[in-house]
Order: sequence, then structure tokens, then C-alpha cells
Amino acid sequence: MEYRFLGKSGLKVSALSFGSWVTFGEQVDTGLAYEQMKTAFDAGVNFFDNAEAYENGKSEEIMGEVIRKAGWKRSDLVLSTKIFWGGGGPNDTGLSFKHIKEGTEAALKRMQTGYVDLLFCHRPDLHTPVEETVWAMDQMIREGKALYWGTSEWSAEEIRMAYDFARREHLRPPLMEQPQYNMFHRERVEREYARLYRDIGLGTTIWSPLASGLLTGKYNEGVPEGSRLKLEKYSWLRKALLETEDGRAKLEKVKKLAPLADELGITLPQMALAWCLKNPQVSTVITGASTVEQVRQNMSALDAVPKLTDEAMAKIEDILSNKPAEEQDWRGM
Ligand SMILES: NC(=O)c1ccc[n+]([C@@H]2O[C@H](COP(=O)([O-])OP(=O)(O)OC[C@H]3O[C@@H](n4cnc5c(N)ncnc54)[C@H](OP(=O)(O)O)[C@@H]3O)[C@@H](O)[C@H]2O)c1
Repeated sequence: MEYRFLGKSGLKVSALSFGSWVTFGEQVDTGLAYEQMKTAFDAGVNFFDNAEAYENGKSEEIMGEVIRKAGWKRSDLVLSTKIFWGGGGPNDTGLSFKHIKEGTEAALKRMQTGYVDLLFCHRPDLHTPVEETVWAMDQMIREGKALYWGTSEWSAEEIRMAYDFARREHLRPPLMEQPQYNMFHRERVEREYARLYRDIGLGTTIWSPLASGLLTGKYNEGVPEGSRLKLEKYSWLRKALLETEDGRAKLEKVKKLAPLADELGITLPQMALAWCLKNPQVSTVITGASTVEQVRQNMSALDAVPKLTDEAMAKIEDILSNKPAEEQDWRGM
């Protein structure tokens, strides 16, 4: 395993990590979760990602139970949770001080841990002043409930507002973002956040590196039984990913990527994960899996990184044809 610094912090996260969205409590019970997390841990994964919203807290309970059962040293783990969607009550959602405090405390109980290493604001909250959220996240760190805090799917402007306010008021600033990043979803990570890496040392823990499985090629000929996009509860995701013109265009690209992967002697999932790993601004690629075998396959993606030479990356770029434009460097004119 390779370990990367999370942004400008001194914390090291495994380049491949493991998350529990959709799977824990839906496709994966505690027994299977144990086998998956053990496989990931044995491969060197130290970062395990979660959120209060995942299966209404069940996912955190399962992860907590697995960690207790496995008896891993807490110092060998980097655990996260994300706060935003905590339930149906008027104060169970969003990033108010009240929900951040109560949501975090409830999550820690479910995970059977005294603190999470990484605490994320799962989305921006239009209804809470950013000052209140920054103050609340700083407070969680002061109370020892989290070591670092960050955001998920915040715009660069929102992150910078939070950072600037924190610095001005001598509060802990956000360290990391959790954005979607994969071959089909690049704008934020490759362009929008570019200045934040340089200016504030932002780290990234990226999600859906396989675009929910699309990039494995498993949907090339329809929706297989047992796959994520077959789940009734996630029909919205199937519609968004497969049943649109954009979705069909993506499938065509996956079909073109397959022979290239063959030529390189790697699988499509390996290629898609290794492609994310090639980006030095990616601190960790959060993988997801519904079986132990998928965890094993995904952990082998690091071996595929050297196969993605400049020439191979250029061929991939040709097929994807979606590289975000770089910021204009006027000095070069
Ligand atoms: N911050 C956020 O808003 C946010 C949002 C989403 C996810 N996340 C985090 O990011 C993690 C990863 O996201 P994700 O699960 O969407 O990642 P992903 O890699 O895009 O999709 C994972 C899914 O693809 C399929 N798959 C994985 N490996 C495979 C393989 N080798 N061969 C064939 N199929 C394979 C599995 O689904 P099936 O077997 O069921 O088809 C698996 O559950 C989540 O667990 C969560 O921790 C965060």
C-alpha cells in the first residue's frame, strides 16, 4: 500500500481506502462487512469512510461492530463520518451547531469510538451561516470528538469562505474535501479546486471512482442481477446513470476503454481506479464493494498504476474527450 499525506496535514491515509455507502446494511451484513474490511485492512487500507446518513446510521453501527470484533489498534485506523442528514426532526438535518454536535455524538456511539479522525460536512447548508458551521466543527475538535474537519461537495468558493473565516478567528480551518471524482466527473477536482491545493493545502478523499460500477463494464449489456443499479431503492441512480443520453454516451466510452485495458494487461476496474490514483491531488481513492472478491480486485489497482504511462494516459484522454480546460496562464502570452 502507498500512504499519502492528507493535504498539507501530517496525517497519512492509504491511497486506496474503503467506504460503506449503499453496501453496509443494504447489500452487506456485519459478517460480510467483517470479511471485506479485513481484506482491505490486510491490504494496507487504514482509512474507512462512513456517514450518519448511510442506512440511517446502520452503516456506522456495522463498521463499529467490525472494528470491535477485529480488535485493530485505534492508531492503525483513520475513521470518518459525515454530518448533514441525521433524521426527520427539524433539527436533525443540516450544519447548525446543534445538529453537528448531536449528530457527531450519536455517530461516535454507533461507531463505538471516542473520536473520528475526519469529520465531514456532507453537503453545504444554505440555511446556516458558514461562521456557525466553522465554529461548530472547531468545537468538535476542541472537545476531542474529531481530529480534522472537512467538507463534501462544497464549491471552491464555499471552502475558501470557511477557510478564511477560520483563519481570521483562529479556529481550525477545513483540511479536506470529499468530492466525486472519476473518469466521467472531473471538473471540480481538476479545475475548480486547483487554486485551493496551492493556497490552502486542500486534501481530497474522492468518491465513486468507478462511477457506481459503470466503469467496470458491468452495465455494458444491461443491468446484471445483484448489481447496485438493480436495487429498487436506487432506481434514481439507474435513471441518472443509464437512462439518459449522457449515460448512454458514457457506456459507449466504457466499451472503447475495454480493449485498451486488455492491451495494457489490466482490468477495467483496475484501470479506472489507477487513473484516479495518478492524480497527485487525490489523497485517497475511496473504493466501495458489495463482495470480498471486488475488494481484492480493487486493492490490486495500485499494481496497475505503472501501466498507465504517458502514452496510455493520452489514449484514455482521447476516448474520454472530457478534460477540463486549464486556467489561462496569461504570463505565457
Ligand atoms: N461524500 C459523498 O457524498 C459520497 C457519495 C458517494 C460515496 N461516498 C463514499 O465513497 C465510497 C465509494 O463510492 P462508491 O461505492 O460509489 O464507489 P464506486 O467505486 O464508484 O462504486 C462501487 C460499486 O461498484 C461495484 N464494484 C466495485 N468494485 C467492483 C469490481 N471490481 N467489479 C465489479 N463491480 C465492482 C459494486 O457495486 P455492485 O456490486 O452492487 O454493482 C460497488 O459497491 C462510498 O462507500 C462512500 O464511503 C461518498
